[in-house]
Amino acid sequence: MLVLGLRYVVFLELFLQTAEKHFMVGHRVTYYVFTNRPTDVPRVPLAEGRQLVVLEVRNYSRWQDVSMHCMEMISNFSQQRFLLEVDYLVCMDVDMKFSDHVGVEILSPLFGTLYPGFYRAACEAFTYERRLQFQAYIPRDEGDFYYAGGFFGGSVVEVLQLTTACHQAMVVDRANGIEAVWHDESHLNKYLLYHKPTKVLSPEYLWDEQMLQRPPFLRKLRYVAVPKNHAEIWN
Ligand SMILES: *[C@@H]1O[C@H](CO)[C@@H](O)[C@H](O)[C@H]1NC(C)=O
Ligand SMILES: *[C@@H]1O[C@H](CO)[C@@H](O)[C@H](O)[C@H]1NC(C)=O
Repeated sequence: MLVLGLRYVVFLELFLQTAEKHFMVGHRVTYYVFTNRPTDVPRVPLAEGRQLVVLEVRNYSRWQDVSMHCMEMISNFSQQRFLLEVDYLVCMDVDMKFSDHVGVEILSPLFGTLYPGFYRAACEAFTYERRLQFQAYIPRDEGDFYYAGGFFGGSVVEVLQLTTACHQAMVVDRANGIEAVWHDESHLNKYLLYHKPTKVLSPEYLWDEQMLQRPPFLRKLRYVAVPKNHAEIWN
């Protein structure tokens, strides 16, 4: 089993500490951390059967490029080693922390997580890519859920197919000199619209208390955003 820490090495310590408390406790976990700063990866004590593997990747100057190239990185590493080493991939942004149990109940051949800002919105309000010339284009009258780019996964084979398809779509857009409105998330949403996930996680699994007031029916928040300042991290 696996988790990918993407982006932001500064958040890794809290991510790992809270993951050790709440994420797949009692199971074998490999944290694969993609980073361009391997020496900055913090040492966090891990329980037995859990390990951290740092995968060095190149950096990009824009966060959008880092985010988009993650699809390519996951696709590349899936072919090279994830297929051999783990059963499931859980791809997560690490500018987050766990605050309650996240266990094997999330696992399924292909799963996505509802984006917390849109879980009650009508589908016309979703920020899908609606421009026809884009690879991530979804017609106005189509769509069901809006998925978050920062938490998806499934079997390695399914994640390999998803990330490869998203990467190829981004290559086409780049060749046309265009970029989808929400970058990799737009491509994820297009893919999951036409390749239905076998499980959809509620916003309990991805919440942002700065952005949204917690509705009373969400009794547990399991994985929540850590307040951050984009400008500070990227400049
Ligand atoms: C990538 O990282 C290196 C070393 O940290 C730095 O010198 C370089 O400017 C970075 N490049 C970009 C495009 O951010
Ligand atoms: C992925 O693999 C291809 C082919 O080996 C390589 O050209 C590309 O640079 C890799 N991409 C990343 C982001 O590592």
